[in-house]
Amino acid sequence: MKALTPREIVARLDRYIIGQADAKRAIAIAMRNRWRRRQLPPDLREEVAPKNIIMIGPTGVGKTEIARRMAALVGAPFIKVEATKYTEVGYVGRDVESIIRDLTELGVGMVRREAAQAVRPQAAEAAAERLLDILLPTGRWASARPKEEAGDDEQRRASREKLRQKLQAGLLEDRLVEVEVEEKVDLGLIGGPQQEELIGLQTMMERFMPPRRKARRAPVRDAREILIAQEADRLIDHAQVNAEALDRVQNLGVVFIDELDKITGADAKFGPDVSRQGVQRDLLPIVEGCTVGTRYGLVRTDHVLFIGAGAFTQAKPSDLMPELQGRFPIRVELKDLTAEEFVRILSEPDNALVKQQKAMLATEGVQAEFTEDGIRAVAEIAFRVNQRAQNIGARRLYTVMEKVVESVSFDAPDLPERERRVCIDAAFVRERLKSIIEDEDLAKYIL
Ligand SMILES: Nc1ncnc2c1ncn2[C@@H]1O[C@H](COP(=O)(O)OP(=O)(O)OP(=O)(O)O)[C@@H](O)[C@H]1O
Ligand SMILES: [Mg+2]
Repeated sequence: MKALTPREIVARLDRYIIGQADAKRAIAIAMRNRWRRRQLPPDLREEVAPKNIIMIGPTGVGKTEIARRMAALVGAPFIKVEATKYTEVGYVGRDVESIIRDLTELGVGMVRREAAQAVRPQAAEAAAERLLDILLPTGRWASARPKEEAGDDEQRRASREKLRQKLQAGLLEDRLVEVEVEEKVDLGLIGGPQQEELIGLQTMMERFMPPRRKARRAPVRDAREILIAQEADRLIDHAQVNAEALDRVQNLGVVFIDELDKITGADAKFGPDVSRQGVQRDLLPIVEGCTVGTRYGLVRTDHVLFIGAGAFTQAKPSDLMPELQGRFPIRVELKDLTAEEFVRILSEPDNALVKQQKAMLATEGVQAEFTEDGIRAVAEIAFRVNQRAQNIGARRLYTVMEKVVESVSFDAPDLPERERRVCIDAAFVRERLKSIIEDEDLAKYIL
């Protein structure tokens, strides 16, 4: 875990999320607190509970994005769930624990990828040898031959070296080779509700049923990756990976519970849905701290960070059951984004929409330039449509932008050389959107 200071975390978040300073600060403090906790002596460390957060704000203003980015920043396993999912038919209380199982699954995948990355140089070396074995099938028997064939032996070594050079020079990338791939037995058991008993079954099957082997033909470029993955898998200490993953889930894991506001308030008088109060009761143990069985071992949720989110227009956080309220002591409000912030969202973040569009068109050899007034026009139109139709926050920028570039996007591959520069200015934007803006009903459908 990188020990970023709150200030550093906010600075990193600033590269992706515009505005919402309060939410960024709260998240940054929560993350730093976990690092602080780990510096404490063990007995005190156990006493410090995470300060869970509720993010309150309208749709599309960055609630999920802030939480997700923050988790990625510090290498924390992150899962997002909708609280309302657990009110649906077919779910029973215990299924809420599957959140933790899924989080663990993600954590293991994450640590495994890191471990594979760490051994990649060795894995790549071993994979290169195996590729040579495949390309020169008799090569590996050379040393077992009688002495009189020593000349052959030398010849083989020479041709192996020649081939190695060709491989390294990238001359054989398209050559088809046959590699053996393993298929794990997947009974398709994990994932559905009521799976506690099935975890044991799946784990047992994996242990006792040998993986199915299958030959696959693939060009060298793909075969190499398959072989590297296999070699990495062999080099990784899986017990250690699992232990590390459990540790990371327990101490760094983040569960993002969306639509928390939708499980407050009075229960519906009819319908088969599990009651909202019921879901709150089900959530309580994992938020308060309990132990959940996973296929990698027991996971304690005491120090998992929970972030609740919702619009809270009808309900208030104080409508949650008291125990749950107490477990989410930090509340932050996210504000509606301004047209000015839309301008910045379009152009500033590392993944800004304008940068994305330019890069996408560049793959077709089209140079798109967005002028300042062009970007402003997109932002203002998005802002106005949000006011008149439904307010969907920054997501509106996506729909407006798509419409603006639609025809360029369609024509790009066919444009003659001299038309491969497009200047997207305010006039261009208004022209594309004119008919839609003028017709309010149409705007609702298209933007
Ligand atoms: N403040 C912001 N800065 C940059 N991009 C933003 C911002 N707010 C939203 N976005 C963009 O809009 C998209 C939707 O935002 P996000 O998923 O965070 O919404 P939300 O607040 O979680 O809404 P909902 O309540 O509907 O889940 C993001 O993927 C991001 O690209
Ligand atoms: Mg969201």
